[in-house]
Amino acid sequence: MIKLKKYKYYILMAVLCFLSFFIVFKLNYSETEKELKNLNYTSKAIKLIIENNLANYILNNNIYSETLEAALIKGYYNKKNLDLYVDLEYKDYDKYVYHLNELKKIGYKNDEINIIINHLNEEEIEIIINKQEKLNNLSYFIIDPYFNPDYLKRYYSYKNKYNNYEFGKIISHVNMNLDLNFYEVIDIIENPNDILVLVNKYNQLPNDYIPENLVNINIKCAINHHMFTIKEVKEAFEEMCMDLKSIGLNIKVLSAYRNYDSQMKLYTRYVERDGEEAANTYSAKPGHSEHQTGLALDVKNNTLSFTEFDKTLEYTWLKSNAHQYGFIIRYPKNKEHITGYKYEPWHLRYVGIETATEMLEQDLTFDEYYSKKKYRRN
Ligand code: DAL
Ligand code: ZN
Repeated sequence: MIKLKKYKYYILMAVLCFLSFFIVFKLNYSETEKELKNLNYTSKAIKLIIENNLANYILNNNIYSETLEAALIKGYYNKKNLDLYVDLEYKDYDKYVYHLNELKKIGYKNDEINIIINHLNEEEIEIIINKQEKLNNLSYFIIDPYFNPDYLKRYYSYKNKYNNYEFGKIISHVNMNLDLNFYEVIDIIENPNDILVLVNKYNQLPNDYIPENLVNINIKCAINHHMFTIKEVKEAFEEMCMDLKSIGLNIKVLSAYRNYDSQMKLYTRYVERDGEEAANTYSAKPGHSEHQTGLALDVKNNTLSFTEFDKTLEYTWLKSNAHQYGFIIRYPKNKEHITGYKYEPWHLRYVGIETATEMLEQDLTFDEYYSKKKYRRN
C-alpha cells in the first residue's frame, strides 16, 4: 500500500467526500430536472425553479403553471404571489405577470384579479392599475356586459349617490349620461343621416343639418300639404295609415320635419309662456329635436286633440302594431327620467322594423336601446 503523508490522506478524503456528495447531488438534481421536464417546464424555467427553491413545492403538488413559468422567465416572479400565479390561467401578452403583481399589490384578492383579467383587455387593466387604490365591489361592475372602464369614476360617484341602485342600473344610467344634468354635456352628432341617430338632451344635431330626401306626406295621412319627412319614413307611415283606414281608424300627421329655426321659434315661445324649466319638459332646444331629422312625426286622430291621443283607439292599436312598420313611441309614460321628456303618446319615431320590434320586446326607450348597442362588450 502506498504510504501517504497524513495531510495528503486528508486531502484525498476531502476530495472523495466532495465527489460522492457531488455525484449524489447531481443524480438528485437530474432526477428533479427530469420530473419538472415531465410536468412540461422548459429548461430555462427548470433552472429558475431550482434557483428559487420551488422544485419541492411544484413536484409535491404536481403543478404545471404557465403563468408561473412566465413570471420566472420574464423576471417578474415575486414569491409572495406564488399562489396567484398557480391559480390563474396564463394570458399571452408581455405585461401580464406585471399586471398580476400590480393588482395584488393594490390589494385585490385572487378571485377579483381573476375576474379583472378575464373580462378586461390589456389597456383596460392598466386603467384599473393606474387608479392605484382598491375599488370596492369592482367585480360587480366588471361582470356587467355594458361596463366601460373609462367611466369608473362616474360609476362610483353615482353609486355613492344612489346606493340602493343595482350595479347594472348604475352602469346603464351613467352610460346614458344620466349622472349629469340634461344639457350638461353635449356631443355634436356625427351621423345625422343614420336612421338610428340618437337625438336627445346630450346629443345635438349640427345647426345647419337638413336631411336629404325630404318628401311630403300624402294628404290622406296628414293635416295639410306641408308635412315633410324622409322617403323611407313616408312610405312606412303611409302604409301604416292606410292599413289603419282599412279597419276604420284614422291617424294624421300634424307636425313632421322642423328645421332648426322653426324649432327655435317654437321653443322660445314655450319658454316665454311657461318658463324654461317647464318648457324643457316637453320641448327640445333647437338642435336637440328629433323633428330636425325628418324621422319624427306627431300624430292625432280625427276626433280628439293630439294631447289626448292616448285616449284613442288609434293609439291603442299603434302601441301594439306600430313596430311592424318601424315606428316607436319615443317618449313613453314613466320614462321621463330617461328620455328627459313628459309622456308624448303622439310622437312617433321611425327606427325600422327590426329595431322597433326589439325595443318593444325588451321594453326599452330609444336612449336605452342606443346605449346598449354602443356599450355592449363583444
Ligand atoms: N316635443 C319634442 C320633445 C320635441 O320638441 O322635439
Ligand atoms: Zn314630436
